[in-house]
Amino acid sequence: MASTHGAEVLVASNRGPVSYELREDGSLHSRRGGGGLVSGLSAIGPDAGAVWVCAALGDADREAARRFEGDRRLPADATGGQQVRMLDIGAEVFHDAYNGIANSVLWFVHHMLYQTPLEPVFDAEFRRRWASYEAYNRAFAQALAEEAAEGAAVVVQDYHLTLVPGMLRDLRPDVRIGHFSHTPWAPVDYFRMLPDDVAEQVLRGMLGADRLGFLTRRWADAFTACCEEVTGGLGGTRVGVHGLGADADFLRERAHRDDVGERMAALREEIGTAPDGGPRRTIVRVDRTELSKNIVRGLLAYRQLLEDHPEWRERVAHVAFAYPSRQDLAVYRDYTAEVERVAAEINERYGTPGWTPVVLHVRDDFARSLAAYRLADVALVNPIRDGMNLVAKEVPILSDGGCALVLSREAGAYAELGEDALVVNPYDVTGTARALHEALTMPDHERAERCKRLTAAATALPPTRWFLDQLSALRDEPAAG
Ligand code: G6P
Repeated sequence: MASTHGAEVLVASNRGPVSYELREDGSLHSRRGGGGLVSGLSAIGPDAGAVWVCAALGDADREAARRFEGDRRLPADATGGQQVRMLDIGAEVFHDAYNGIANSVLWFVHHMLYQTPLEPVFDAEFRRRWASYEAYNRAFAQALAEEAAEGAAVVVQDYHLTLVPGMLRDLRPDVRIGHFSHTPWAPVDYFRMLPDDVAEQVLRGMLGADRLGFLTRRWADAFTACCEEVTGGLGGTRVGVHGLGADADFLRERAHRDDVGERMAALREEIGTAPDGGPRRTIVRVDRTELSKNIVRGLLAYRQLLEDHPEWRERVAHVAFAYPSRQDLAVYRDYTAEVERVAAEINERYGTPGWTPVVLHVRDDFARSLAAYRLADVALVNPIRDGMNLVAKEVPILSDGGCALVLSREAGAYAELGEDALVVNPYDVTGTARALHEALTMPDHERAERCKRLTAAATALPPTRWFLDQLSALRDEPAAG
């Protein structure tokens, strides 16, 4: 099946670098996505002949996948010249695999999100969805097998595609297969909530790879512990750690464009000025409205700060952006409503005619996020569990005045930033309120010094290097300098 004209490098991920929108007149409009993987892959450039295989996520993507099926590639003008193959897996199978298994089961297991007295329930409905997850993984494995040149390097991404390495290994024993997890990995007792055969299938699927990558040593060790207990070890598979850093060059350039300047002016209006006429201190958080991001406890900690330290009233504002995510899942919609409810309650309780304590926005706007980063005095990143968390790295890089970072010890970023952040237990609302106070009262020179070191750590492994290091390791080459 190996094609002599196949690609030497392939990437596979659920979400690709482009998404489509279908207009009423039937025309398709493409939008290029951001994020570490997109910039990482752009490092090898369109000329390298790499192919990126991704799924069609919605109706418009499926329409695009069908229209361009004959070419097996999306048009180059939509992808910045990258070769992208978008797979139409069928709306129902996709829904069951993505929402029903990847986001409701595997994401929940790795982030330990179940309310265990009632969840999870692995019944016949789960088995039906699991069959879709298998079919969806098989579609990827088959597409990759068709596209790969003899001996090619294939890098598979994340929990959506855990079965792909094993399936691809069966179809194409000649290729080198890597898999990278962008999430935490569950502790073994928690992981073993999965039905035994499913737990084993996930691990054996991943062990089909030559090399597995994780964001921190902690997640890599948790995976290894699961294998020791369930499959009797890693077999021949190697495990490595690559802590994805922020793309500082891109961010700095993007954050100094006019649209960001305009949003900074608008945000300053919303934040307002302190009674003495000076600017209000600004605590910033930016997240997907994601259960694991712990937005509600973050708001409760801010409320407690206002309660315990009335001197901050009128002198501080909490800019909280909680962007829509996975809204097909009821539990995410409910969480969004809870975030809005708690923010409104704080504004009602403490707000004054000239002061809105929580400036909450729930509509996605990248330029406005960058504007908030630049204005931040304090960044609040308090997830209950997070693979890495790039916001913790991005805000220190962009904050104009140098920010303090309040950081959960359960974020992967803690391994790299822990020394210069104010570290919190994410469940401890009182402790988080205390850390916010400490961050707001940190002497300027100390904040500047810490922020400088945070920035250095945050940029240590930019996406390009992160991606190329994985490729080198997969090919047994020495890492790029
Ligand atoms: C996490 C996952 C990614 C995913 C992203 C956004 O960072 O590791 O694989 O793409 O969340 O989630 P979504 O479901 O919108 O793709």
